[in-house]
Amino acid sequence: MFRFNLFQTYFLIATWTSLMNPIVLSNKTLINLLNNGGYAIISAEHNPNLSNNEFGLTDEAIQERLGNLSTDLTNKYLYSNVLGVYDGASEYSFLVILHNDLPDRERALIYRLGEKYNQDSVIYVKQALPVVQQLIYTTGPLNGTYVEGQGYKILTTDVTDNYSSVQLCSNVTLTFTLNFDFEQMITNNNTKTKTQQLIKHHAQNRMRNQLRKSIRLVH
Ligand SMILES: *[C@@H]1O[C@H](CO)[C@@H](O)[C@H](O)[C@H]1NC(C)=O
Ligand SMILES: *[C@@H]1O[C@H](CO)[C@@H](O)[C@H](O)[C@H]1NC(C)=O
Ligand SMILES: *[C@@H]1O[C@H](CO)[C@@H](O)[C@H](O)[C@H]1NC(C)=O
Ligand SMILES: *[C@@H]1O[C@H](CO)[C@@H](O)[C@H](O)[C@H]1NC(C)=O
Ligand SMILES: *[C@@H]1O[C@H](CO)[C@@H](O)[C@H](O)[C@H]1NC(C)=O
Ligand SMILES: *[C@@H]1O[C@H](CO)[C@@H](O)[C@H](O)[C@H]1NC(C)=O
Ligand SMILES: *[C@@H]1O[C@H](CO)[C@@H](O)[C@H](O)[C@H]1NC(C)=O
Repeated sequence: MFRFNLFQTYFLIATWTSLMNPIVLSNKTLINLLNNGGYAIISAEHNPNLSNNEFGLTDEAIQERLGNLSTDLTNKYLYSNVLGVYDGASEYSFLVILHNDLPDRERALIYRLGEKYNQDSVIYVKQALPVVQQLIYTTGPLNGTYVEGQGYKILTTDVTDNYSSVQLCSNVTLTFTLNFDFEQMITNNNTKTKTQQLIKHHAQNRMRNQLRKSIRLVH
């Protein structure tokens, strides 16, 4: 259904220190990870905010940035390839299987990788008690703030936005979406604010992604 060819080509030429990555999960293992695991979803694709030279990043540069992120991850974690579609843009991403032993440090590491690769946000989930499911903003004025959510929903194949699609063995994918409450913003210092700011932020992201795609089509 989805084409991972470009991605796979990249991985063939990348220097691997871990022969395991990217791992291919069975449906059962993935469901188990979603229900009980600790995991993160992170990419290195374009930030919708096209300031800071993001606009000038070519496909090759994005591939290189994805490769750099995989290198940063590979000796620490196993990960699977994910195609994520958020705010109207498709992104090759990594579903990172966390260890959950030092959750605060893992959350901080994932957050810093989001910052390093100029991402709008990263997803961090820990199903062990207390359950944590957060989408953390990693750049711009929202840097450090996050939203919380609970659980995921498995989706059918006709979805168009806001989902992650994991490549499974036997040539199938599992598509799911995580539930987040975008109307409640939580700052670094744990202040919770009811606001429309994040809804507006994502609407703006969608407009910017749309613009980037239309400009690409012209070229
Ligand atoms: C995988 O699925 C695609 C389309 O669903 C099909 O074209 C392709 O032949 C399949 N590959 C294998 C190895 O089954
Ligand atoms: C994976 O497992 C989930 C939950 O049991 C199920 O809903 C889904 O259809 C399965 N998908 C595949 C591709 O087997
Ligand atoms: C990838 O990492 C290398 C080595 O740190 C760096 O020189 C290069 O600029 C990075 N590429 C991108 C696109 O960020
Ligand atoms: C995010 O905020 C921290 C301080 O909370 C700052 O040190 C860091 O440089 C900021 N990063 C970005 C990418 O804005
Ligand atoms: C977009 O990037 C510019 C330049 O770094 C920054 O000043 C601005 O706050 C960013 N806006 C958002 C919404 O991230
Ligand atoms: C995706 O999520 C946004 C909220 O961030 C929502 O406004 C939009 O309608 C969603 N799109 C789809 C197709 O579900
Ligand atoms: C918490 O952080 C927000 C934004 O980062 C700031 O406006 C607010 O003053 C802070 N509150 C406290 C008690 O430090």
